[in-house]
Amino acid sequence: MEADPGDLVEVKSERGRPLGLAFFSSTSQITLRMLGEGPRDERALLSGRLQAALAYREHLAPDGTAYRLVSAEADGLPALIVDRYADWLVVQTLCQGSDRRLDVIVELLAEAVQPKGILVRNDAKVRRLEDLAELVEVRMGDVPDVIEIREGTITHQVDVRHGQKTGLFLDQRENHLVAGQYARGRALDAFSYTGGFALQMARQCESVLALDGSELAVAALVNNARRNGLTNVEARTVNVFDELRELEISRERFDTIVLDPPAFAKNKATLAKALGGYKEINLRALKLLRPGGILMTCSCSYHVDEVLFEDMLLHAANDAGASVVLVEKRLQARDHPVLLGVPETAYLKCSVLRRL
Ligand SMILES: C[S@@+](CC[C@H](N)C(=O)[O-])C[C@H]1O[C@@H](n2cnc3c(N)ncnc32)[C@H](O)[C@@H]1O
Repeated sequence: MEADPGDLVEVKSERGRPLGLAFFSSTSQITLRMLGEGPRDERALLSGRLQAALAYREHLAPDGTAYRLVSAEADGLPALIVDRYADWLVVQTLCQGSDRRLDVIVELLAEAVQPKGILVRNDAKVRRLEDLAELVEVRMGDVPDVIEIREGTITHQVDVRHGQKTGLFLDQRENHLVAGQYARGRALDAFSYTGGFALQMARQCESVLALDGSELAVAALVNNARRNGLTNVEARTVNVFDELRELEISRERFDTIVLDPPAFAKNKATLAKALGGYKEINLRALKLLRPGGILMTCSCSYHVDEVLFEDMLLHAANDAGASVVLVEKRLQARDHPVLLGVPETAYLKCSVLRRL
């Protein structure tokens, strides 16, 4: 039987056993995105899934006003992202199935959450794989250019229209707070973006040096630091690879370091090169770290799994001549849960290491 782009289809095994419902894509390599069992009535299906996702976030009671309300496959809603920024929502529909149902999704969200506005941030490049246009538009109410949110005791000004992802790296929300608990002395936040880690650490540290390649991100970080009354943060617009080398040459030392680079391995073909990049920054960071110091090191490359990541860290420590203990293994925040059986939903690794 023929299916149209984005159709909700019933999937059966070769022997005809029903396997559940799925969104069909006519262009992507991912032809079917499973929704599992549920009512055939689409509105009832979406409404039930949204209600369950919202109830889970209410139960989590995040310490902040920005978090993920719907995390796609992990909430039984394939390729649908809904992020809350205080009184506003930002939505992404990243496959034909969720995109075709955007109107009803917006309607159901407006009803259930009653936000002041809903922005659709459908400018993600992955939409090209689904033959979907890239666009950003307000679909309900008004959405200001800048939204103030709180993460723990720190406030951030978020540009939801132009910021990376939907404005913030919400998957690091809980790790930001944990970094604040480990941080002491002189801290370095490499790949800082707008200061998720840097500002939490600044509350506890003598000083924080934040590094990012994006001028916009660094300007936002400086503004955030000022608005939080933090005078011990310095931010530099630099290439982190070059700056780590410079800091090493000038024999700078730090007590706490965070490394949160972008995904170096976008696919399997770039894995070897990506591992080289991860090793280089970790090796340099370990050289800059004082004995007794803490390195919180992250990778958001799905293709670099936990085993490869730890192996890379061991090689980096050996080459840096550093003895290192693993203190804690963390992943993405709990509002971005991992769907067992779909390894792609477990992408963020965050290891806390201590140099002996
Ligand atoms: C995963 S994000 C960091 C998120 C941030 N730590 C947070 O929790 O909000 C990666 C950041 O690295 C920056 N970036 C990418 N390549 C870079 C490079 N070579 N040097 C400096 N910054 C870079 C991007 O601008 C982006 O802000």
